[in-house]
Amino acid sequence: MTAPGPPEIRAALEDAAAAVRAHSRLAPRCGIVLGSGLGGLAEAIDAETAVPYTAIPCMPVPTAQGHAGELVLGRLEGRPVVALRGRVHLYEGRTPADVVFSVRLLAALGAPVVILSNAAGGLNPVFQRGDLMLLTDHLNLTGTNPLVGPNDERLGPRFPDMSQVYDPVLCTLADDAGRAAGTPLRRGVYAGVLGPSYETPAEIRMIRALGADAVGMSTVLEAIAARHAGMRVLGIAVITNAAGRETGPRDRTLRHEDVLAAAAASGPRLVGVVRSVVRALD
Ligand code: HPA
Repeated sequence: MTAPGPPEIRAALEDAAAAVRAHSRLAPRCGIVLGSGLGGLAEAIDAETAVPYTAIPCMPVPTAQGHAGELVLGRLEGRPVVALRGRVHLYEGRTPADVVFSVRLLAALGAPVVILSNAAGGLNPVFQRGDLMLLTDHLNLTGTNPLVGPNDERLGPRFPDMSQVYDPVLCTLADDAGRAAGTPLRRGVYAGVLGPSYETPAEIRMIRALGADAVGMSTVLEAIAARHAGMRVLGIAVITNAAGRETGPRDRTLRHEDVLAAAAASGPRLVGVVRSVVRALD
């Protein structure tokens, strides 16, 4: 499925939301987007329904390994939540409108908060594989923006403010959860790139010099669309690899399988943080 462009997008979102509501009328307090290798978080949800993306009109279906393509509506810590198990990326050849359709669907389902998770390469030299990093800000290096084209004011304003994309109150809740669990979270700036090739050493030096602490191939467009829709956003990156040494080439070849395995290994800690944040939402 392909998401339509701006003129028809609102009607498509209403159709998609109606298809989900036909399975469950639960009103979510929070949406959760599960990144590469992080789909296990969906299992922590006491599910009322799991709807395959193929059963949701206009919902783009992911092709990347590690993304199942299923929307799970249920309860986490007793609170109604909706989780997206799998997302589409620009590097799959999808449009920016496709990439953000699912986050807009969470908004259409009434979720006032979204938690965006991802797997990322660490650029900050103190970061270790397996760390969780709270996004404090991002660099959109994808070369595109989901809001390009005619703006539907019913979805959000033409020129949305991006001075505080990631909600500081939600960051504090996540920080408290990490500290309580004995594994404090990192904080940093996430650079979103197009991919799918991983970065060269020169690109890593450049992105680091631009001010990023981690780099990945998702999240930034979704965060822009979520803020456009007025949602509060929490971003959590699992640092799956040291993306490079500042002074030389990568210490070893980077493979997608290793990224997925590293993300899965940090999954339980991510689940713990998300549980605590959801519990503290009301
Ligand atoms: N670069 C880009 N995306 C990533 C990386 C990386 O090193 N690790 C996980 N996702």
